[in-house]
Amino acid sequence: MEKLIEIKDVDKVYGDKVVLDNIDLNVSKGELCTLVGPSGCGKSTLLRLILGMERATRGEVIIEGKNAPRPNKQRGIVFQKYSLFPNLSVFDNVLLAKRMCQSPWASLRSASSDEKDEAMEYLKRVRLEHARDKKPHELSGGMQQRAAIAQALITKPPVLLMDEPFGALDPNTREELQVFLTELWEENNLTIFFVTHDLEEAVFLGTRLLVLSQYYTDDRGDGFDGRGGKIVFDKELKFKGASTEIKDTDEFKKLIKSIKEIGFEPRILQHVKDFNLTHPDSYQTLTEIEHRNSK
Ligand SMILES: Nc1ncnc2c1ncn2[C@@H]1O[C@H](COP(=O)(O)OP(=O)(O)O)[C@@H](O)[C@H]1O
Ligand SMILES: [Mg+2]
Repeated sequence: MEKLIEIKDVDKVYGDKVVLDNIDLNVSKGELCTLVGPSGCGKSTLLRLILGMERATRGEVIIEGKNAPRPNKQRGIVFQKYSLFPNLSVFDNVLLAKRMCQSPWASLRSASSDEKDEAMEYLKRVRLEHARDKKPHELSGGMQQRAAIAQALITKPPVLLMDEPFGALDPNTREELQVFLTELWEENNLTIFFVTHDLEEAVFLGTRLLVLSQYYTDDRGDGFDGRGGKIVFDKELKFKGASTEIKDTDEFKKLIKSIKEIGFEPRILQHVKDFNLTHPDSYQTLTEIEHRNSK
C-alpha cells in the first residue's frame, strides 16, 4: 500500500524535556488512524510534526515521499478550536477556504461560479445548506464543527489531520459527527489521522488504533529515566463503518478493556501523573481518564 506518512526515529525535545521519544510510524493511503493517550503525552506535538508546523529534533518526517515539507494543502487540519472567521457567513467561510488553498491572493478577485457551486456542495455534504447565510455564532457547537470539517475537506487534502475535533461537543452530537466522519471517509477514500483522548471514540472510528504514552522507566538500559512519549500499542481495528450499536457489544467492550490494560497500564499512568504534577503547563487533567479507568 502507498505510504503517505513515514516517521522514522523521531525525537522531539523542548529544552531538556523529551516529549516524543524515538517514534516510528507509517500510515498508508486510506487508513483512518486514531491516536489516543493521556494529556500531555505529546499527541498534538506529533500532529504538528506531521503538519510541518514544527520540525523533529532528530529523525525524519516524510509526507508523500517528501522530507518534512512545510505546511501546505497536502495536509488539511481540523482543530478542536474552530477555524471559522466570525464575521463571514458559513458559506463564505467554506468558499474562502477553497480559494485560499488555491492562492493566497484569492480574496483579491471574485469567486467563480464553479467555486461557489463547490462550496455549496460541501455545505450539503456536511448538512449545513440550510445555514449557509448564518454567522458562526448563530450555530451550535456541532454545526460549527461541521463547518470546520467542510473547510478542511474542500481543500481535498491527501491527509486530514484532526486534533480532538469533537472534544467540546455533547455526547449525542459527538456520536452523530463520528458516524458522519466515517461516512465522509468511506465516500471520499480519505486518509485521516485523528487524535482524541477518548478511547471509545478511537476504537469506534479507527481502522487502526495507536496509543501514545510516556515511559519514565528506562526501557533501553542506558540509565536515563526521563524519556518521553512512545507508541505503546498499534493495532488494526475492525469496527470501521459499523453502526453505533457496536459500542454496546461485548466484543467492543472487551477490546477497550484490553487496550486499557496494555496502553493505559497503571505503571505508565503513574508516570503520566508524576509528569503532569511537575509540568503544570500540561493543560488537561487526568481526572477524566482515571474516572473512565475506574469504571
Ligand atoms: N512549544 C512548546 N514548548 C515547550 N513545551 C511544549 C511545547 N509544546 C508542547 N509542550 C509540552 O509537551 C508536552 C506534550 O504536549 P502536547 O503534545 O500538547 O500533549 P497532548 O496533545 O498529548 O496533550 C506537554 O508537557 C507540553 O507542555
Ligand atoms: Mg493535544
